[in-house]
Amino acid sequence: MTPTPSGGSASLLSIDELGADGVARIMDLADHMAEVNRRPNPKVPALRGKTVCNVFFEDSTRTRLSFETAAKRLSADTMTFAASQSSLNKGESLRDTIETIGAMGVDAFVVRHGSSGAPWMIDGWTTASVVNAGDGWHAHPTQGLLDAYTVRTALGRAAGFDGVRIGIVGDVKHSRVARSTAAAFAALGADVVFVAPRTLLPPVPSMPTTEDLDGVLDDLDVLYLLRMQRERMTEALVPSLREYTARFGLTPERAARLADHVLVMHPGPMNRGVEIAVDPSELPGAMITKQVANGIAVRMAVLFDILGGGASLEKGAR
Ligand code: CP
Repeated sequence: MTPTPSGGSASLLSIDELGADGVARIMDLADHMAEVNRRPNPKVPALRGKTVCNVFFEDSTRTRLSFETAAKRLSADTMTFAASQSSLNKGESLRDTIETIGAMGVDAFVVRHGSSGAPWMIDGWTTASVVNAGDGWHAHPTQGLLDAYTVRTALGRAAGFDGVRIGIVGDVKHSRVARSTAAAFAALGADVVFVAPRTLLPPVPSMPTTEDLDGVLDDLDVLYLLRMQRERMTEALVPSLREYTARFGLTPERAARLADHVLVMHPGPMNRGVEIAVDPSELPGAMITKQVANGIAVRMAVLFDILGGGASLEKGAR
């Protein structure tokens, strides 16, 4: 967690700023939150009196609902800002919007924005905490954390990911998930490789790369499929989606080669028939709904880490 430039509360903007110790701390906290979530009444008073505001300037299903649920399970009050129904439509600036909401008494902003860097700008305008819920092509740290937590629980790797081989496959160039998830896996010691056509890799990839999925498939413990981000592509970066699927998709033939222990992951939303051309419910190692479920515990851990201030996770709150 980083202090804000304005000297306010801690914020979570990227995995790099969180660091390896911070990732490990969130993993351990998420274990406690998962235990809370298994209780008949999955609610604790840890953040009673705190207010968490979701400000999403870009569409979301998983992240927005997951943060809202996480905040409520910690007994925080929640506010949701709907950009499409706001005074942004009357020309109000982003800064004035944030300062207006902040004046109502907000302890943490959860921010999704289509422009890379927007959460950093917002962090400089408010003394509240800021959690990056996805900015442009850049970062999606809580996705990275929930993916790491999913591997940790599924493979029983609480001590770290040494020797775990993970292939992140697809549109790395446009993917904030690829950057944050690779950073979270690597922080815990995994060997990560990006598998993509050169046109879908950034100029300076943060991990080793290959264009040969079939050449690495049998060595992987985790096959992480990325969404083809058609809305972010401004040029023809693959000859056709059919050819992309043939070279980089999880086809029935590749699924048949996977050992039973191999985890198959995807951040959602999926392009069925493109990056995943099989029914995930028929794969023994499919983690896709587990990732969504784990997202609540991990986002509870993040909010508690930022706002908890030494509160306990005692039972029986309402
Ligand atoms: N994985 C993810 O960020 O999904 P949403 O866009 O639905 O939040």
